[in-house]
Amino acid sequence: MKRIRREACRYGEPGFDREYIEWGFHDRETQITEAQSVLRILNPETSARILDLACGIGTHAICWAKQGHQVTGVDISQTFIAEAKKAARREGVSVNFQVGDVKALDFTEEFDIVSWIEKPTFHHGMPEAIWGFLAADGHFIGDVRNPEHPRTRARTGNWRTWREEGGVFHLEAHETNEETGTRQDVWIRIDTEQGIIEEDSSTNDLRACVGRNLNTARDELTKAGFAEINLWTMEGVLFGGGEEPYWLWIVAKK
Ligand SMILES: C[S@@+](CC[C@H](N)C(=O)[O-])C[C@H]1O[C@@H](n2cnc3c(N)ncnc32)[C@H](O)[C@@H]1O
Repeated sequence: MKRIRREACRYGEPGFDREYIEWGFHDRETQITEAQSVLRILNPETSARILDLACGIGTHAICWAKQGHQVTGVDISQTFIAEAKKAARREGVSVNFQVGDVKALDFTEEFDIVSWIEKPTFHHGMPEAIWGFLAADGHFIGDVRNPEHPRTRARTGNWRTWREEGGVFHLEAHETNEETGTRQDVWIRIDTEQGIIEEDSSTNDLRACVGRNLNTARDELTKAGFAEINLWTMEGVLFGGGEEPYWLWIVAKK
């Protein structure tokens, strides 16, 4: 059997990114709703300076630029940035799209809003870096899973499953190691006909991952100096607790 082992998320690898465009991003309508929700909650002045971290193919950034804001979008993937630039041209707006690594950001200009949508992971020193890019009274906004939602609880528990489809076996294992604070997700595909075993895995530091651990996200943002941290629903209502909805915004004011 031929065995292929790889990282599940290989952003920046052109082959992976081209396929990811087909299946990975939220659909366009959801992204537009998210972008509008950000503006509804933060209600920025006209022509606000917005930095969209890990902007992907730029749908949020373009939506904000269409509302008259000055938007910079950064992503590690050349493929996504090329798509984003094409989309901006198509839509007739100007957005400063750049290839860059969110772990090594270096801006001299200030922003009124720094956004980070879908799977944000705070690497060491990032909340401090974001704080530094924000103008006085500026906001950071990112999305987090509601920790009370059953789907979030299921995601953080340990589970394994398998199924067979047309002679191909699909196995999954999801495990948290409390001692190391890491979460490992593994997907294995065994195709006996073709003689191939494919193993995709990802290991995440739970303490650093905003989307997975709301409490550590709050702590990190507070340590970085953010004064006011709140949770909002996509509909623009301050979140007071409960199992619903699944996705929430975490908003931190400088
Ligand atoms: C789940 S997608 C979300 C994209 C976009 N924010 C959205 O909501 O459609 C995650 C994005 O993070 C980008 N990314 C991952 N690691 C990155 C890094 N170190 N620096 C910059 N971008 C990164 C990926 O290329 C990808 O576009």
